Amino acid sequence: MTGSGSAIQGTATPAEQYADLQRSLAGLLAGEPDLIANTANFAALVYDTLPDLNWAGCYFLRGQELVLGPFQGRPACVRIAMGRGVCGTAAQRRASVLVPDVREFPGHIVCDPVSRSELVVPLIRGAELVGVFDLDSPLPGRFSEEDRAGMEAAARTLMAACAR
Ligand code: SME
Repeated sequence: MTGSGSAIQGTATPAEQYADLQRSLAGLLAGEPDLIANTANFAALVYDTLPDLNWAGCYFLRGQELVLGPFQGRPACVRIAMGRGVCGTAAQRRASVLVPDVREFPGHIVCDPVSRSELVVPLIRGAELVGVFDLDSPLPGRFSEEDRAGMEAAARTLMAACAR
């Protein structure tokens, strides 16, 4: 299953999709500091705005592991150790990880066998690693460097709105 999609899906360029995402985020996050509420709306907005996703959501850092947070898509694995899978690798590096073909990524954790490509960006607030945001697609090679830059910028906007 993929996102229901907004009116612009299918026709908009990635640049237009990310401009649309940032505009919508400004409204959604305005005056709201709650991390859970904001990450829940962030996941819903990303899933609805970007085409060809089958999962979009957060994992929060709890001690030395990542624990599932708000998401859209099918139920997913709950705990991921630091350094494991694409999510744990992004968390350990505190840097985004773009995987064109999940079958080629050693240690990839399969939550939904439909997923073929993946992009994970870190959620960083000040100096603190809060967690990661994960996007999965059923299409191989779905994510580009433009998606990486667009999602990193969106994650910065999200974290700037959330209070400690
Ligand atoms: N594939 C991820 C696990 C999370 S799910 O895709 C939602 C990984 O390798 O870390």
